[in-house]
Parts: sequence; C-alpha cells; structure tokens
Amino acid sequence: MYLKNIRLHQFKNYQEAKLEFSPDINCVTGLNGAGKTNLLDAIHYLCLTRSAFSSVDLNQILHGTDFFSIKGSFVTEERKMEVICSFERGKKKQLLVDGKATEKMSDHIGLIPVVLIAPDDTSLIRDGSEERRKFFDSMLSQIDKAYLADLIRYQHFLKQRNALLKYFHEGGRKDPQLMEPYDREIIRLSHAIHQRRTFFLKEYIPALHRHYQELSLSQETVDIQYQSDLNNSDFEETFKKQLDKDILLKRTQSGIHKDDFAFEIDGYPLKKFGSQGQQKSFILALKLAQFEVVKQHKNQVPILLLDDIFDKLDDQRIEQLMRLVANRGFGQLFITDARPERSKSIFESLSMSAKLIGISQGKPF
Ligand SMILES: Nc1ncnc2c1ncn2[C@@H]1O[C@H](COP(=O)(O)OP(=O)(O)OP(=O)(O)O)[C@@H](O)[C@H]1O
Ligand SMILES: [Mg+2]
Repeated sequence: MYLKNIRLHQFKNYQEAKLEFSPDINCVTGLNGAGKTNLLDAIHYLCLTRSAFSSVDLNQILHGTDFFSIKGSFVTEERKMEVICSFERGKKKQLLVDGKATEKMSDHIGLIPVVLIAPDDTSLIRDGSEERRKFFDSMLSQIDKAYLADLIRYQHFLKQRNALLKYFHEGGRKDPQLMEPYDREIIRLSHAIHQRRTFFLKEYIPALHRHYQELSLSQETVDIQYQSDLNNSDFEETFKKQLDKDILLKRTQSGIHKDDFAFEIDGYPLKKFGSQGQQKSFILALKLAQFEVVKQHKNQVPILLLDDIFDKLDDQRIEQLMRLVANRGFGQLFITDARPERSKSIFESLSMSAKLIGISQGKPF
C-alpha cells in the first residue's frame, strides 16, 4: 500500500497544500521550520489517527483557525482507499474511509501499517516507562486487534477503579464488594496483556539484536528486559492486599499499567551508559525491528517515515541504513532533509532514484 497524494487544510503550518508522491522514495526538503516533519505527521494521522509527536489534537490546528483536515489517497494492488481525518475545536475527531465514518478510531489502526524513525528522538530511552509502554502498545495494536481491545478495556476499568478509590478515600470508608468486579476484570486483563507482551518480545528481541549488529558493526550487545508485576506468580494476592494503600494514594499501585521495558547495553542501563551514537543506533534498530515484525504479521509492507536521519547519523551508518532500505523489500519511503544537495548526492552515489519535494513555509514548490 502506498500514499498517492495528500491534501492538507489548516494543519499545523500548512494553510492549504496538495502533494503528489512516488510509490518509492520521496525526499522532502526545506529549511528548518519549513514543515517537513509536519508533513510526516500528517501521514501518521492518516495511518494511525493521531500525531506521532503530541497527544493533543488541538495543537495541530493552524494557529488562528478552528479546524484541520487531512485527505489522502492510498493505493494497493487491488484497490484505492481515500482517508480523511479532520478535527474541529470542541468536537470529536472524525475519520472517513471511502466516505464512510469510522465509529471507533481503533478500528482503523492496523489498516495502513506505518513506521516512523526519528533517530534524534531519544525520549524513548530518556523518559519514563509510559513512553516505552506506548511504543510497544502502538506496535502490538497495529498487528493485533484483540490486544488493542483488551488494552482499551483495561484502561477503562482502571479509570473506574481509580475513581472508586478516590470515592472511598474521600468518604473515609471502603467497600471491597463494590470493588470486586473491577478487580476481577483488571486482574484478568492484566494476565492477558502480560502474556501477549511476553510472547511478542520473544519474537521482537532477536530482530532488534540483528538490526543493532548490522547497523553498528560493533561488538556491543543490546537487550530489553521486560519488567512487570505480573512476572511474580503471586500478583493476584499482592494486588488485593494493596487495597488500603491504593485508597490512601487514590491510585491503583500494580498491574500492567506499571510495566516497563528496560533497555540495556552490555548488561547496563542504556540511558546511563550508552553514548549518544549508541542510543541513536538503538532507536534505529528498535524501529527497523518494528518494521520487520509489522511487515511479517500484516503481510503488508509498512510505509516508512524517516525524519532527519542524514543529520543525525554518521556516514557509515547512513550508508548501511540506505543500503538496507534499498535492498530488502522496503515499500514507500518518506525522508526529510534540510539540505537538498546532500540528499541528492547520497541517492546518486547509491544509484537510487527519489522524488524530491521542496517545502517552504508550509507550501510545496
Ligand atoms: N498549530 C500550528 N499552527 C501554525 N504553525 C505551526 C503549528 N504547529 C507547528 N507550527 C509551525 O511549524 C513549524 C515547524 O514545522 P516542522 O517541524 O515540520 O519543521 P521542519 O521542516 O521539520 O524543520 P526542521 O528542519 O527544523 O526539523 C514551526 O515554524 C512551527 O511554529
Ligand atoms: Mg523536522
């Protein structure tokens, strides 16, 4: 599946723009602040119904206006698909696929697989566990509808349970019987989600190892340790014992919403002991492994968005990456670069042809 064209209306710094793309390599160039990353984000919206960089839809509306809309025409071997994603201040986000409104945004996830690589964005390594959970959840959601449904249900029950904890806290009393249905569902879903995450990592981590080795051509090894309350066999017991503390803190203390995925280099925390280059290579390997497993599961090549990779990697790694991308069953590609001459010469030296798309202040030229 590839994106044939896009129309942006009042999306970030784009007032109105129409762009046509190549099914192969598209190189988006322009000065800092021109709107290159914003264009990738618009594509991300069409595929996953949300921004890759911010969870606030409101921030994506062009300043001084009240709504945005993004329209894209996708083409597969068998058919065409038109997707329109729009959002108006104070209203619900809307998604139309071939003119039909999508009831639940989650129904759309997985239809158009996409992977975004922004090597400079090391927040996955630096930030708290929530970022990492989001990364794995988003990846699993693209390949497993049942996982996404469980996750949404879990979040719903967790919210309800926390509201009840607050109610008990403020009322100075507790009613374990009232809590029981929430506990039962949270425990059940925790087990299901934990099992799925564990199983998925068995397949994902070897792909990560391979990509890291290929990219860095180095001796160091990287790994991911899955940390979860559910790794302990007595989870259910501890969960129930914690009710008083949960009420005191007005929050549920354990469950899969506390899971973390610890990134390691040679057995030590990557955040503390990885060099900047090693951290960037790790992010790259993480995303290439994502590309590989999503492709395998969906039996469909994801659209690949590469943001600023030329700036952030050394020549050897750029070449390794571009060779990989050129050789191994990659589909449509979007690459951003602030320096068009550099992109041109990289593509020429590797005998790759790319469509160059210049952007200036939110307008193609
Ligand atoms: N809601 C919005 N309304 C208007 N402008 C916005 C909005 N959100 C972001 N922008 C503008 O978009 C511009 C940034 O665009 P973008 O991040 O796509 O740049 P870029 O071309 O990727 O630049 P760089 O080369 O620095 O990465 C900034 O000028 C920012 O102020
Ligand atoms: Mg950018």
